[in-house]
Amino acid sequence: RESERASMLAVNEFALKHFEHNLYETSDGRSIGLSYFYERGLNDSVIKKFRLGYASEQSTTLYNEAVSKGYSEKYLIDTGLCIRTENGRVYDRFKGRVTFPVLSVSGKVVAFGGRALKKDIPAKYVNSPESLIYHKSNQLYGIYQAKPSIVKKDKCILVEGYMDVISMFQSGIENVVASSGTSLTEGQIRLIHRFTDNVTVIYDGDSAGIKASLRGIDMLLSEGLNIKVLLLPDGDDPDSFSRKHSSTELEEYIRTHETDFIQFKTDILLQGVANDPIARAKVINDIVRSISVIPEAVTRNIYIQECSRRLDINERVISLEVSKQISALA
Ligand code: GTP
Ligand code: MN
Ligand code: MN
Ligand code: MN
Ligand code: MN
Repeated sequence: RESERASMLAVNEFALKHFEHNLYETSDGRSIGLSYFYERGLNDSVIKKFRLGYASEQSTTLYNEAVSKGYSEKYLIDTGLCIRTENGRVYDRFKGRVTFPVLSVSGKVVAFGGRALKKDIPAKYVNSPESLIYHKSNQLYGIYQAKPSIVKKDKCILVEGYMDVISMFQSGIENVVASSGTSLTEGQIRLIHRFTDNVTVIYDGDSAGIKASLRGIDMLLSEGLNIKVLLLPDGDDPDSFSRKHSSTELEEYIRTHETDFIQFKTDILLQGVANDPIARAKVINDIVRSISVIPEAVTRNIYIQECSRRLDINERVISLEVSKQISALA
């Protein structure tokens, strides 16, 4: 199994170099792939830092290259780089897409994401399947590049997508990782927690992004992380927002708009129901449930005070509700 893992990592490493080479050294790579990244505002420095690439439109370019270099078909299929159809034909999974290698925390190539360049392709992104070397729920896109900055700033910014990570990195905010579209998992949170206690969630400013933020909050809190949330203007994601603003503006925006989770929840959940007592009670219960998952008593108390101030409710009342909730959970 160890040797199987090593063989899979080796063929992924080969594919990474192949895709990178395509991007800069082939005419399709340059005119289709590289120009796509330039159109999206990326510069050569981040393109290289994130080891972006291009997979040719032909069905078996990678397959043929790899096999001719002695890599076996088995590992091309096990890693998901190639797919075998029912009738036995084998083709390249990422063909005709730009590629985003997913590096583990130690820099191993465990997977790829590939983005379609044409609008009529059904899946905007395709990703490597789960395998012996890729457990999606334990990986975070960008962690390898972000690690030094997360440690230095003692803070990690969590976004949704590949391009969000890369655009923010280019804008000088390097402590950023993505959960890549799936909802956050415990494994991903533990990975962040190895490097810092502080997380700021910046999901897309649409209803899906808000829902995902609300879901992520309790998971991050129950791992004992300090969390802040930043809501972008509707229709923006960190990538589009970074492109419209200078690095200084971006940093300033984050500094002035990130809020604690109590404020985020009250802002979102009280929208339009501020004076309806029943709706208010529901919001309070929701916040009480979040506070109850925080493992540290001292931290819980800080949030109980904050909740009391913000919703203008007696601190002892909230405290009692939190205690009840904790016993109910125990
Ligand atoms: P861009 O259009 O390239 O800016 O992508 P985005 O990251 O803004 O896309 P979106 O906000 O729609 O989705 C966020 C993340 O979800 C992406 O970065 C992907 O990781 C994932 N995702 C989006 N679309 C798909 C898809 O069609 N299939 C899969 N498997 N994942 C997707
Ligand atoms: Mn900790
Ligand atoms: Mn979205
Ligand atoms: Mn997005
Ligand atoms: Mn986007």
